[in-house]
Amino acid sequence: MTKKALFIKTYGCQMNVYDSARMADVLAPLGYQLVDTADQADMVVINTCHIREKATEKVFSDLGRLKPLKARPQGAILAVAGCVAQAEGEEILVRAPYVDIVVGPQAYHRLPQLVAEATRAAGGVLDTDFPVEAKFDVLPRTTDAQAVSAFLTIQEGCDKFCSFCVVPYTRGAEFSRPVAAVVAEAEHLVSLGARELTLLGQNVNAYHGVGDGGVWGLGQLLVRLAEIPGLVRLRYTTSHPRDVDDALVAAHRDVPAVMPFLHLPVQTGSDQLLQAMNRRHSVDDYRRVVDRLRAARPDLLLSSDFIAGHPGETDADHQATLDLIREIGFAQSYSFKYSARPGTPAALLTDKVPEAVADQRLQELQALLADQMTAANQASVGTRQPVLFEKLGRHPGQLIGRTPHFQTIHVDAPPRLIGQVVAVDVVAAASHSLAGRVVTVDPAERQGVAA
Ligand code: SAH
Ligand code: SF4
Ligand code: F3S
Repeated sequence: MTKKALFIKTYGCQMNVYDSARMADVLAPLGYQLVDTADQADMVVINTCHIREKATEKVFSDLGRLKPLKARPQGAILAVAGCVAQAEGEEILVRAPYVDIVVGPQAYHRLPQLVAEATRAAGGVLDTDFPVEAKFDVLPRTTDAQAVSAFLTIQEGCDKFCSFCVVPYTRGAEFSRPVAAVVAEAEHLVSLGARELTLLGQNVNAYHGVGDGGVWGLGQLLVRLAEIPGLVRLRYTTSHPRDVDDALVAAHRDVPAVMPFLHLPVQTGSDQLLQAMNRRHSVDDYRRVVDRLRAARPDLLLSSDFIAGHPGETDADHQATLDLIREIGFAQSYSFKYSARPGTPAALLTDKVPEAVADQRLQELQALLADQMTAANQASVGTRQPVLFEKLGRHPGQLIGRTPHFQTIHVDAPPRLIGQVVAVDVVAAASHSLAGRVVTVDPAERQGVAA
């Protein structure tokens, strides 16, 4: 079989990262091997994100840049995957007719067939169906399987329909993978060297997969996964505040592998806006969820997403958001300027916030959130943390790892420690990362032990 070069460019969330690796897996039997640049590639896949306008625009500028690849004697196959493909498939084929394949997130297992069709067909082929068979059941898993920290998608789609969000339209209705399939993939990943798994879903804590004795929630699944020998850390993202049930809170209390860090987006600190956003909970509900989680796991650190300038947002709403951030305290957060997305209810609202006002509010949010992140990092200086080393650092002799609180930490340590949890003293903090020193046993102490 002739070897062919495959380049995949990934935008968007972790689910796209996971999916890109699965696409590489499914194309490998056709001879495709991943390469780092598009220049020499025989096939280029752009895995797209539709969440904000800017993300979507990138697709067409990328395609313009890639078009010359088609002019080569053996022109490259150009494919557009992901959420823009799902939402704007037809338009892509009109605006960029040189695209060969447009494939939605639920159809990646059909890529080999689409590649064959594209090689035969004159025009582009489009597959944005939501087929009955789940893509996961037919996709193999090899491409990113050696990672110390691996992603595992357990749930797809979203039934929440927040006013501003395209995900329910691009990813479809909620679907949870069966427990047995999740456990099998987790065991496979651990057997290949994963020590940490991050369970993924757009609404991951709404997980309700079929398992022994009925339908399992995320809490029960975490308990089961923690039993896998060799698996030392579990995380999950992204959670919705409405779906934090008692079993999940209990998992944070009882399962040591569940890490004390949680991304729990609240979007705004105003009840009026939460309602306009159709988030289906109040600010007080959020406070109560945080209280329950912190009671179960007092060292839990939180992160959130915030939107500045959603239609109807007043200055008082914005101040309420800043107040809530000060009250709760977030260790790491993302904030975005509201972007009107075609087809979403918010896009039809008329009480828009002027751009300049939204810009100003976003800056204020980001300044406060950056201060909180720096403070959280500073607070860990002088503490001793169990660090899971994930990979080599940029400087020779350096490794990169994570603390339980998901802080990135740089430590001088030998490569053999990759994949191990090692005690590290945190010696310094920057805005986005920490520096640490491996705890070495004092020679006197060691002699004492030997004696
Ligand atoms: N399922 C997750 C969010 C997925 S999208 C949740 O419910 O929290 C990731 C983040 O993008 C959202 O939390 C939101 O803050 C942001 N976002 C989504 N749509 C947006 C839009 N139209 N404009 C600006 N930000 C948006
Ligand atoms: Fe989008 Fe809301 Fe679903 Fe999150 S919960 S993916 S923000 S619709
Ligand atoms: Fe973007 Fe789709 Fe993820 S819209 S955020 S890539 S689910």
